[in-house]
Amino acid sequence: GDFGDLRYIRRMALPDSEPTLPPSPDWTIPQDWARYTAEDHATWDRLFARQSALLPGRVAPEFLAGLDILRLSKPGIPDFAELNDRLGAATGWQVVAVPGLVPDAIFFDHLANRRFVAGRFIRKPDQLDYLEEPDIFHDVFGHVPMLAHPVFADYIQAYGQGGLRSLDFGALDKLARLYWYTVEFGLLKTADGLRLYGAGIVSSRGESLFALDDPSPNRIGFDLERVMRTPYRIDDYQQTYFVVDSFEKLLRQTQETDFAPLYARLAEAPDLAITDILPDDAVITRGTQDYARSLAKA
Ligand code: PHE
Ligand code: FE
Repeated sequence: GDFGDLRYIRRMALPDSEPTLPPSPDWTIPQDWARYTAEDHATWDRLFARQSALLPGRVAPEFLAGLDILRLSKPGIPDFAELNDRLGAATGWQVVAVPGLVPDAIFFDHLANRRFVAGRFIRKPDQLDYLEEPDIFHDVFGHVPMLAHPVFADYIQAYGQGGLRSLDFGALDKLARLYWYTVEFGLLKTADGLRLYGAGIVSSRGESLFALDDPSPNRIGFDLERVMRTPYRIDDYQQTYFVVDSFEKLLRQTQETDFAPLYARLAEAPDLAITDILPDDAVITRGTQDYARSLAKA
């Protein structure tokens, strides 16, 4: 496989692997930019060149604008100090380095305060297409351009506030599906056709092609409650993608909806199967699921 972000896998499947000693009260660590090797910088440059050649015409214009605003085309792994000057000027967000997995409440608290937590390590040259936890290329190239967009920046902050609230309802697993199917694997409808914006897609060469072009996956219009009933796959390309009409609508709807009654309903309702298509779904692509079937046979 060739896929992006496994932060939530580790978060949910392997809670025991959490480090027990926080490196600092808010779990942040220095980026230590001077410690990157020439090989590390070359890995970033290869990944950057590959994705930036692939993405025009496939990715949301907001993402391309973010690359530009943040000057991410500058060679080498970005120095957070410099990145944060530009990001802060654009939307007031900051990127902070963490050692890997952080506790849920810490993760949400950072988002709620417009701090995006990022891994500082970069994958090895033999891991360009596959790694088990998000590295700095996924976290920075994948996520940070959208944080330079004012509306999406507000959405992720609101998500952090909602995340803290979800803990009181024991509903993190449901809310995490919203993050997964928007922030990580979301598609946007535009006048020119579907475009990518999810970080898990845009940081992955294979999924940047698959999510848009392959006949296998379902592509369905975004519906909040529907998304929160839909499990996701953590080990390969998604079998269903959800398509938002606009980031403004996504922000407005998630902010204006009180999730408490939603969590109560979801606690009673059974989960859907990943590939289910419902009578009320706004179906854009009814997927063949051939890719998932080929994996099952292999
Ligand atoms: N409105 C949500 C709640 O009541 C919070 C939220 C906002 C969640 C935006 C996700 C995204 O919990
Ligand atoms: Fe991610």
